[in-house]
Amino acid sequence: MPHDRLAVVAHVSDLHPTGVARPAPWDLLGKRALGWANLAFLRRRRHPFALLERTMADLRAEPPDHLLVGGDVANLGLPAEFAASRAVLGGSGLPPERISAVPGNHDRYTADAERNHLFETYFGVFAQSVAPFGDGSFPFLQPRDGFSVLGLCSGWPASPIQARGTIGQRQLARLRDLLAHPLARPPLLVVLHHPPLPYENTLEQWLNGLHDWRELLELLSGTGATILHGHRHLSLHALVETARGPLRVIGVPSTSDRGGRNERSGGYHRYRFGPDGFAGGERRIWNDAKGAFDTRDLPAPVHVPWKEVRR
Ligand SMILES: [Fe+2]
Ligand SMILES: [Fe+2]
Repeated sequence: MPHDRLAVVAHVSDLHPTGVARPAPWDLLGKRALGWANLAFLRRRRHPFALLERTMADLRAEPPDHLLVGGDVANLGLPAEFAASRAVLGGSGLPPERISAVPGNHDRYTADAERNHLFETYFGVFAQSVAPFGDGSFPFLQPRDGFSVLGLCSGWPASPIQARGTIGQRQLARLRDLLAHPLARPPLLVVLHHPPLPYENTLEQWLNGLHDWRELLELLSGTGATILHGHRHLSLHALVETARGPLRVIGVPSTSDRGGRNERSGGYHRYRFGPDGFAGGERRIWNDAKGAFDTRDLPAPVHVPWKEVRR
């Protein structure tokens, strides 16, 4: 940073680029057939690609110090989708060392997308670590001027009806090591795709939630980390009151979402971080009538008592 000012960090997620892939019939076997129907009939109208380009132009006009990409850069886990999202990020004008990215469930959509390391091929440059483990990119540690980014992978090829996530024991153990690394200087920004807090009901949690959210929060309690996620396609804001201090959890909408009935379902976020951590933020929402972005407040934080987390 910017020692005389706050670091500005932008947060985009769930790019879901539409109109960029022409899958061959053999690409649409199994899980992708269902996903393709959803894409063709619903997502395409809801997620115009132009919104991604406008967002990048907005970032270019007022460049943040850093950009976090929270996953779901694809829909069906096809190479053309990764390539399109990678290209659109170039429009931010930011060099790779000022961008961090983690994969979502749509980036690990099928076993072959995972096996072929498609996310790593296109986005690996944004997932570099100063303390690599040698057999995979996650978790990563990226110390930057005035803050550190820790990135986790929660995406995996779940069944066709599920979009749930998991971090897994190996990543959690490695995250514990990274938290003790001398270059993990606070404030800590922990980025992952799935929300580290449960959905409102058990079925939704089973379908879409993060399997090991409690373990993650327990590991991070006392670090003062800000946890930044996507996946729910909503602006969300919570303060988990742990016995060792609060953990802030912020969810960002889908960057390509033109917005629906819920007024928190569109736009991207900008945050400010100082030596004491999170120092505020706002949402940027595309206004079609004006042909420009509006600035709105983040939702007020919902306080979550630690005893609810420890259930
Ligand atoms: Fe998504
Ligand atoms: Fe997702």
